[in-house]
Amino acid sequence: MPEIKTKKTDLISIADITSDWLQELLSLTKNIKSNPHLKSDALSGKSIALIFAKPSLRTRVSFEVGINQLGGQPVTIKMDEISVGTRENVEDIANVLSRYVSGIVIRTFEHKQVEELGKYSLVPVINGLSDEEHPCQIISDLFTITEIFKDLNGLKLTYVGDGNNVAHSLLLGCALANINISIATPKNYEPSEEFILTARKLNPKIKIEITNDAHAAAKNAHILYTDVWASMGQEKEAEKRKKDFAPYQINNELVSHADKNAVVLHCLPAHKEQEISASVFDKYSKFIYRQAENRLHAQKAILLKLICEK
Ligand code: CP
Ligand code: NVA
Repeated sequence: MPEIKTKKTDLISIADITSDWLQELLSLTKNIKSNPHLKSDALSGKSIALIFAKPSLRTRVSFEVGINQLGGQPVTIKMDEISVGTRENVEDIANVLSRYVSGIVIRTFEHKQVEELGKYSLVPVINGLSDEEHPCQIISDLFTITEIFKDLNGLKLTYVGDGNNVAHSLLLGCALANINISIATPKNYEPSEEFILTARKLNPKIKIEITNDAHAAAKNAHILYTDVWASMGQEKEAEKRKKDFAPYQINNELVSHADKNAVVLHCLPAHKEQEISASVFDKYSKFIYRQAENRLHAQKAILLKLICEK
């Protein structure tokens, strides 16, 4: 009998959701945060697979705890245990896992692998970070930003550092949330053109600035955001990157160019005295740790929307 694929929504890129959907997620996140027991049996009898090809503290623990709090069971799998591509191809893994679990979260290198999993899986697939995007992080960060600023209209977010997965998802996320975004990177580390174009298409009204001038980018920013200079998988480039990125540290001098009420965010893990000075980290750590906490609340909202509301 031919396979009947039920309608499902994946979260592989922020571009998979609409701004209305984002608003629903943010308001559900708010309800969940104020009532951690809300929907505590929503995933009762359901298991969610979590596949990790890279290390993780926040994503893995917040998903495992969130799934437990919703009454479900997380099944965590290290990618090398299933040896994608050598022991078995993505199509077979997707088809088999879909028969055991109600959702799949995957953290891997190649974004294409996440897309392929989404293509063959019968259950929703959530990108827990790929080389191109980190949607769960940015949805949760947008929630943190709404907690801090209430009104997002007219806000300017400045990302300083590598034009990486986090920068890409921020571009798309800011477009959906109507936040102006400025990205400052060294030459040759700019975000991919594809993400800039998609963000412009998603929201032609916001200002998008891509520059090599960190000071110009920081000017009047309400949010300064940074991430590691060498992402997971780029460890061999770390020494070269330290030199190339040295003028792109978020330190007190750079913060002085931002709005006087600006906050500094970091997705973590942080390398203090590299992308962020220790003193700036300490000054804004209450926001940065809140940002990490909100991963739990926002991902519970994502699970509820994708897996429980079909
Ligand atoms: N920010 C984030 O995704 O952290 P982990 O790599 O520890 O999951
Ligand atoms: N850009 C970083 C994000 C870590 C959460 C990485 O991919 O390693």
